[in-house]
Amino acid sequence: TNIILLGPPGAGKGTQAKRLVEERGMVQLSTGDMLRDARTSGTEMGKRVAEVMDRGDLVTDEIVIGLIRERLDDLSHGGFIFDGFPRTLKQADALGELLAQTGQSLDAVIEMQVDDSALVARITGRFTCGNCGEVYHDRTRPTRVTGSCDVCGSTILKRRADDNEDALKTRLMEYYKKTSPLIGYYYAKGKLSTVDGLGEVDAVSAAIAKVLDKS
Ligand code: AP5
Ligand code: ZN
Repeated sequence: TNIILLGPPGAGKGTQAKRLVEERGMVQLSTGDMLRDARTSGTEMGKRVAEVMDRGDLVTDEIVIGLIRERLDDLSHGGFIFDGFPRTLKQADALGELLAQTGQSLDAVIEMQVDDSALVARITGRFTCGNCGEVYHDRTRPTRVTGSCDVCGSTILKRRADDNEDALKTRLMEYYKKTSPLIGYYYAKGKLSTVDGLGEVDAVSAAIAKVLDKS
């Protein structure tokens, strides 16, 4: 099963994707994570996108389509979760073509709905494990032992450079201008399902599982 998790910054896409990886053997393709990896490893591309990302703007379609293209050949798993991709109509068209070329299809697009007011609180409280990528929140999901990751024990806990109110405003604008048209795009293709992303993590997971078990 190949799915897209669609939703604004902080909707919980990464949190839910990690669960689907564990529970269903799916593979998470997060263009945000790939771009941050490119920055950490200091590649030419990583250097080029750093400033754009920190402002909260989108990087070019060419770059992210290239990143996804490199990953679609591996079919030895329970399906892809596209997390944070596609984000523009051009990316959505490219994904359709890439999947068709590799003999695959898109089974569902899950739109995660969360109010803007909740997004600010989620983003400004977020931190992640620098080793395994587990996602935490100061209030709603703190680590069990202060300063160390529940999953892998690492003490490298990080905050993202774009997780501040200024960059978040830009990220939200970008979402409404460029990404939200994808809701209509996939609705017209009969692929769209909407889940309430405001509930607890388990409740959102249950709603997503329902969609997956139907498709
Ligand atoms: P990206 O990394 O994709 O960031 P994003 O879309 O802004 O999404 P986030 O990672 O912020 O949020 P999320 O929905 O995954 O939420 P999470 O689960 O962490 O993109 C970053 C940048 O890269 C972009 O701005 C752009 O520059 C570039 N980029 C990436 N892809 C691109 C593309 N395709 N095209 C162009 N540019 C691209 O949850 C957030 C917090 O809430 C966490 O603390 C979590 O613990 C908490 N939380 C989660 N669920 C719940 C819940 N149910 N209840 C309470 N708290 C919860
Ligand atoms: Zn960890």
